[in-house]
Amino acid sequence: MNTNNTSPLFDLHGHTALITGSTRGIGLALAQGLGHAGASVIVNSRQQSAVDEAVAKLTALGIDVHGAAFDVADEASVEAAFEVFDKQALGIDVLINNAGIQHRQPMLELGLGDWNRVINTNLTAAFLVGRAAAKRMIARGKGGKIINIGSLTSEAARATVAPYTVAKGGIKMLSKAMAAEWAQFNIQANSIGPGYILTDMNQALVNNPNFDAWVKASNPAQRWGKPEELVGTAIYLASAASNYVNGQIIYVDGGWLSVL
Ligand SMILES: NC(=O)c1ccc[n+]([C@@H]2O[C@H](COP(=O)([O-])OP(=O)(O)OC[C@H]3O[C@@H](n4cnc5c(N)ncnc54)[C@H](OP(=O)(O)O)[C@@H]3O)[C@@H](O)[C@H]2O)c1
Repeated sequence: MNTNNTSPLFDLHGHTALITGSTRGIGLALAQGLGHAGASVIVNSRQQSAVDEAVAKLTALGIDVHGAAFDVADEASVEAAFEVFDKQALGIDVLINNAGIQHRQPMLELGLGDWNRVINTNLTAAFLVGRAAAKRMIARGKGGKIINIGSLTSEAARATVAPYTVAKGGIKMLSKAMAAEWAQFNIQANSIGPGYILTDMNQALVNNPNFDAWVKASNPAQRWGKPEELVGTAIYLASAASNYVNGQIIYVDGGWLSVL
């Protein structure tokens, strides 16, 4: 039941959401935001201790939360995690493929190992977790929501982050591929493209005065984004409000990609 004063269109009570990479940064903010909209949430990262900490934080906020430590880029770990969800009767209605890493190096110096690590974590993992979730959504016959986290680099390249750029461009198209195959099962798959957001991933850039000045000068909002500023779009894409929206990417970037 919707106990908030918000429209029932955006109500997530009775829905379970798995947010990958949700022990800090954007993922943790999304888990908290979906939890406050009524969802039961499952938090994830590779580290059990960080998962336990996130579970404790969200529980203290009154959110119904489960923890699942697994590596989203490892097929066997993903499959094992979903088998545990099956045993716990945790049916996932909403999946946010958020886990991601960055690696900054000019392409001429980049090794295949780092290329593969970034592509596997930021793109292949969304396929692996998305496939496991969608199989179960289809079997349960209730449809579902998949939200893949892209980036400004889903649209435009930047020097020194080639594998990240390629993975995030792929994320935009993966949402469309998921929509093409799974819309018939009432699954909506869309992407969110955040601008530069203040998280651990960007701490070195925030500390670099030249980069910080460039972010503020290039972005019409003239500031970094905050993780919680992605919550509204995530609730929209996780809820009945977006039931006929599929294969889209919504940039939450302060207007960055709209200007020259
Ligand atoms: N921050 C930005 O400006 C920005 C902008 C656009 C897009 N994004 C995207 O938003 C997402 C979150 O970014 P963030 O800035 O919040 O990053 P972050 O603060 O570095 O957090 C990343 C999270 O992902 C987890 N993770 C990393 N690799 C994983 C794996 N293989 N399996 C499971 N969990 C894993 C991390 O935990 P462990 O390391 O403990 O596993 C952590 O919980 C990423 O997809 C990123 O590309 C970020």
